[in-house]
Amino acid sequence: MDTVAHDILLIGGGGAGLRAAIAVAEANPQLKVAVVSKVYPMRSHTVSAEGGAAAVVKPEDSLEAHAYDTISGGDWLVDQDAVEAFVREAPEELLRLERWGCPWSRQPDGRIAVRPFGGMKIQRTWFAADKTGFHMLHALFQTTLKYPPIVRHDEWFVTRLLVDEGRCTGAVAVELATGKIFAILAKAVILCTGGGGKVFPFTTNANIKTGDGMALAYRAGVPLKDMEFIQYHPTGLPFTGILITEATRAEGGWLLNKDGYRYLQDYDLGEPQPEPVLRSMELGPRDRLSQAFVKEVAKGRTIETEYGHVVHLDIRHLGEKIISTKLPFVRELCLKYQKLDPVEEMIPVRPVIHYMMGGVHTDIRGETPLPGLYAAGEVACVSINGANRLGSNSLTELLVFGARAGAAAAEYAASQADPPASTLNQALDEEQRLQNRFLEKTGGVERISTLRTEMQEAMEDGAGIYRDEAGLSAAAEKIQELQARFQDVALDDHSLTFNTELIACLELANMLDVAESLIHSALARKESRGAHQRTDYPERDDDGYLSHSQAYWTENGSPRIEYLPVTITQWPPGERVYG
Ligand code: FUM
Repeated sequence: MDTVAHDILLIGGGGAGLRAAIAVAEANPQLKVAVVSKVYPMRSHTVSAEGGAAAVVKPEDSLEAHAYDTISGGDWLVDQDAVEAFVREAPEELLRLERWGCPWSRQPDGRIAVRPFGGMKIQRTWFAADKTGFHMLHALFQTTLKYPPIVRHDEWFVTRLLVDEGRCTGAVAVELATGKIFAILAKAVILCTGGGGKVFPFTTNANIKTGDGMALAYRAGVPLKDMEFIQYHPTGLPFTGILITEATRAEGGWLLNKDGYRYLQDYDLGEPQPEPVLRSMELGPRDRLSQAFVKEVAKGRTIETEYGHVVHLDIRHLGEKIISTKLPFVRELCLKYQKLDPVEEMIPVRPVIHYMMGGVHTDIRGETPLPGLYAAGEVACVSINGANRLGSNSLTELLVFGARAGAAAAEYAASQADPPASTLNQALDEEQRLQNRFLEKTGGVERISTLRTEMQEAMEDGAGIYRDEAGLSAAAEKIQELQARFQDVALDDHSLTFNTELIACLELANMLDVAESLIHSALARKESRGAHQRTDYPERDDDGYLSHSQAYWTENGSPRIEYLPVTITQWPPGERVYG
């Protein structure tokens, strides 16, 4: 079996992975770092982020205000020590990124421009027009090129974490171009693989977001935390799910129902404002806006289309100049994918799966309970997002906690011996499994695409914006059935060169594990909080559930759910008030 060895292995080449790689290289230039990514890093999903990254910059703002907005936005299911570190380190991270080449938009007098974002009571969202993720990822990618110890294995797909003598000692990966299976030995591993929105059918997430890192950690015995909390973004294009950024509403866009009425005024999100303003009800938090949409559907006040119910996002009153300078990508997306010009026409939109608040359990240094394994970015749950993430916190999160995880992993790796020789036996087992189970197996009756579609439908039916016991139980049963049927999948393509069918199959296995953890965590949480709305338990229950769920993989197809207290430092649980 081919073997490569590095000190630190980063799995995932998006924003968090690249930021972590730089942090390792800066902390200890002696360490050899490898970034393994299933796509070329500039194709990672960070590239598609639009609206901006949050950090305090205005004199009238404060770290306490950013922390409070984040904690109340997350419906208090937020570890406050993590948020304190996050808001404190956020401004310096964004400034550092500018020094690395990220062209933040500026005011005419040269100061950083910021826009308001949903659930934030003060403007603190830095942006690079509406292509923020693209510019951030570019800046990070080109900065990694400065550091010779950082090497990349592009288009490698990791299939298993190696765990030996109680610590993570590397991973097994398939090189897509050749089909070769590699053992990658490392003293520390950092997961930065993003979320898994593709377990649902309608999402802003790229097809690559299949929860790979979450599934790898879960199967290695690391708990997945708060998986029941999944965010719908209120404004996706109805057919494709492409994100129409919240920046449209930050600049003054309105959400209108079929009667042309700004319906959010009926949902405790504030009063309508006549002109583009600093804050308006359209900038309520995403969970509340998506729930309001469902209620509008129930009232018969939405527009029925062949791609489901929609409302209108109207930015025409902003005028061509603002749209073309501050929202050029929105205009481009509407023209290309919706065949309309938002300068002239309203944009049809509907809520769309966007982000996973939950993920691999870590502490505020990015450490998981498995020694040697770290995680950062959407794959991780630190947790600063709680039950509902505020828009523009996640780009900053991947910088702050990518850097933290990199620094912590560097420190750990420097104190470790090389992985024991026995690690290779596990890697050989994994190679055998891939060959027997996928590359050489013939005769299966199940199709990957059928199972994937059935999984996505079950998730949407059972674990959408509103949930209840019956729907969740049906989804749990369905996922278990699909897990069993997955055993009867066999590939048609047994070649080794760019075998994308193999990758699709491994991704499906990952998604089924992520779906399983999500559904069971949602079943166990018998309350409503943030993005987890149970119609059968409509109230928030702090006595019973002010705690993080932790889903542990078990052999019987349903995880063991345990709970961990939320860390409260200075902000006791209160009511979420907007408007
Ligand atoms: O709407 C947006 O631009 C999304 C931003 C985010 O999810 O942070």
